[in-house]
Amino acid sequence: MCGIVGYTGVQSAAPILLDGLKKLEYRGYDSAGVAVMDQNVIAVHKVRGRIAALCEKIQDGAAVPGFTGIGHTRWATHGAPTEENAHPHLSNDGRFAVVHNGIIENYLPLREELIREGYHFQSETDTEVIVHLMERYYKGNVRQALIKTANRLQGSYALGVICSEEPGRIYAVREASPLILGMGVEENFFASDVTALVNRSRNVIYLEDGEFAELSKESIRIFDCTGRQIDKKATRILWDVQAAEKGGYEHFMLKEIMEQPGAVKATLAPRLKNGGVEFEELAGLVPQLASLRKIVITACGSAYYAGCAGRYALERLCGIPVEVELASELRYSDPLIDEHTLLILISQSGETADTIAALRECKAKGAKTLAVVNVVGSSVATLADYTVYTWAGPEIAVATTKGYTTQVAVLYLLALFFARCLNRAGDGWERMIEAVQSLPRRIQQAIDMNASIPALAKKYHKNPDIFFIGRNTDYAVALEGALKMKEISYLHAEAYAAGELKHGTIALIEEHQPVIALCCNPAIMEKTLSNVVEVKSRGAEVLALTYRDNQKILSVADDLLFIPRVDPLFSAAVEILPLQLLAYYVAKENGCDIDKPKNLAKSVTVE
Ligand code: F6R
Repeated sequence: MCGIVGYTGVQSAAPILLDGLKKLEYRGYDSAGVAVMDQNVIAVHKVRGRIAALCEKIQDGAAVPGFTGIGHTRWATHGAPTEENAHPHLSNDGRFAVVHNGIIENYLPLREELIREGYHFQSETDTEVIVHLMERYYKGNVRQALIKTANRLQGSYALGVICSEEPGRIYAVREASPLILGMGVEENFFASDVTALVNRSRNVIYLEDGEFAELSKESIRIFDCTGRQIDKKATRILWDVQAAEKGGYEHFMLKEIMEQPGAVKATLAPRLKNGGVEFEELAGLVPQLASLRKIVITACGSAYYAGCAGRYALERLCGIPVEVELASELRYSDPLIDEHTLLILISQSGETADTIAALRECKAKGAKTLAVVNVVGSSVATLADYTVYTWAGPEIAVATTKGYTTQVAVLYLLALFFARCLNRAGDGWERMIEAVQSLPRRIQQAIDMNASIPALAKKYHKNPDIFFIGRNTDYAVALEGALKMKEISYLHAEAYAAGELKHGTIALIEEHQPVIALCCNPAIMEKTLSNVVEVKSRGAEVLALTYRDNQKILSVADDLLFIPRVDPLFSAAVEILPLQLLAYYVAKENGCDIDKPKNLAKSVTVE
């Protein structure tokens, strides 16, 4: 997804912009560009493709003089990924350059209006209307022109703007798309993502919707949408710079898989206190729990699958019906939701467009909204009534791993917390607390028990199709396992509820067809086992995921993945580990771009 950087200071701007853009590469993009101001002239350089090509084109920035500039990585939405459509866009008079994240929904009428007035468009993008509006409204005051321009825009935007009349100054505007200001000494920055800033500045200011900022090397001034100057507090970024880098692993994804024991511990530990679960951030919700008639969990992709996995614990422990809906469906389904509904939104980035839209839709219907989010200050976190953070740290690989497990861990905590508040926890409280508390250790064991995965990947990586089967929580984990496999290895992977096989899917089972069977729930083991036998007898090669001492499965399966014994109600956060590793090593065998799979973006901020 698109990324923005901006710099003003006493150093050469272009190398700093390129460095910031490289930090944003993980978000996914298909073109990149910078605009640098030297005296009163703005020079724009853009490429289709990778930042490496932009570096080559401008000699790592050495070919571009100037101390002020903006940069962008674009993930195509309006118009193909071409050099013309890449940002920054320049006004016809060469006075303004603009970079933009988000979507301008009313760009078509604006474009027609500007064309009628004689403005000449060079791209197919929605963004270009912004730079022409700036030219049109500029009467010697950039701030006024920005306010007038922003007033004409509908949709979401984070903007970076420079004006040749104001050397040494960069402007940032935020409306429903993240933008962060970084404070330095004799230099200041902005970026759409803190990862692009941490190397240079640890004191940051999060812009909020409707705010804009004017940065020079000496100062940062922030204004509301009417132009009134406002004060905002800086936040100190505590992340280790290393945390945003690979730390010795070949890929961010592998590093993040290995970080899961620590990430889940960081998520659980502050909430597991005095033999119970505490959520200070939910104090306002507690008195309202008794009036709930249902819980709706909504999210996209893996976050949705985290909801599918966490649902069982919530429903079982709280005795409240739980529905899990894709945010992209929920937002258009006119759902039966009212003030007796708790809507739980799950999002690693907190910027997923469909999740935000579902939140707005359900909030308008009166639902209480609770966000489970990783990125502090993100849109979902800000818009929801209550926010519980997953403390996974920055997730760089496009395919989520620690984002997913920490989301599942939070859902377990919420299930226990709500159950206790509602006096519905029942027997076995200590045992359940112990089960959740031991998850980081169990996750580490699941990593350690599966040293054979690289070898298994060599066996299975050539098969074009892989099926995943399981029941109950095993099925929920199968969905996420199959998504991991397809998104990074490009193999066709499908998850089926094991009991559904006979209703059609079994027609696809042929000699040597790999089937990954998740058998981690003793209560329904015999049922899944009978499905394993069904596919085996049709020639399938079965790779079973189970406990070491599960003799029945061991004797039927061709190959094995292991997890330690965990209460099945809380096992999803452990079961997924071998499947993440298998997907990783299969993708590696297939020579795939593991951290940046094709066609995918880390943060899907468009519908
Ligand atoms: C898959 C993956 C995606 C995200 C989905 C939601 O590995 O990462 O399916 O889970 O795009 O993203 P967030 O959690 O940021 O809302």
